[in-house]
Amino acid sequence: MKTIWIIANWKSNKTVAEALDWVSVVGPELLPNEHVKVVVCPEFTSLEEVKKAVLVGNYHLMVGAQDLSPFDTGAYTGEEPAKLISQFASLVILGHSERRQNFNETDEMVKEKAEMARKYNLTPLVCIQSSKIPIPEETALVAYEPIFAIGTGNPDTPEDAGQAAGEIKQINGGLDVLYGGSVDAQNAEFFLQQDNLSGLLIGKASLDADEFLKIVKIAYSL
Ligand code: PGA
Repeated sequence: MKTIWIIANWKSNKTVAEALDWVSVVGPELLPNEHVKVVVCPEFTSLEEVKKAVLVGNYHLMVGAQDLSPFDTGAYTGEEPAKLISQFASLVILGHSERRQNFNETDEMVKEKAEMARKYNLTPLVCIQSSKIPIPEETALVAYEPIFAIGTGNPDTPEDAGQAAGEIKQINGGLDVLYGGSVDAQNAEFFLQQDNLSGLLIGKASLDADEFLKIVKIAYSL
């Protein structure tokens, strides 16, 4: 049975209080299911509190970050390096299209960030917008997120996403490919049924604890 990743990407939205509310609703519902890994990627400002809440509640919830610095610790004002993030997170989203578009993030930067992530034992989840985008060496986890589908309410079809995932696997060898882009509790099951897809990266629908839980429960039921 393949591992299914259900990953919440909160982007730049929640206060610490809102983050903790979400964890208090979602956390107790999560099961020790070895085939379904549930991850939440909070804002940097909430990472520590979310991690603490997960530890105190003993929840089956991994914590991830949404980005990290291409540099190590040092004189880099405003940056969050992998070493410091790894105090709270075990996974990191890299190369999201919003970073590539709004912050001029290049493939080279994504590669440097992936190296930093690995140096400090963070699993990089590299987002690519098509099968043509290069994936840093040794990446095991990729999210296929076509631009037209991100935050638009206009998801890719599960069949096309599955086909793109197949191409990505063929070009890059054995890695797990997730789909992201307007996933919600209505369409999640159809993406998860695709053989080549190993999970979902969820933005807007992950902000609502109940909606996110519905998606997690679909994954548990497969
Ligand atoms: P969305 O975002 O679910 O709001 O489309 C997905 C993502 O950007 O990872």
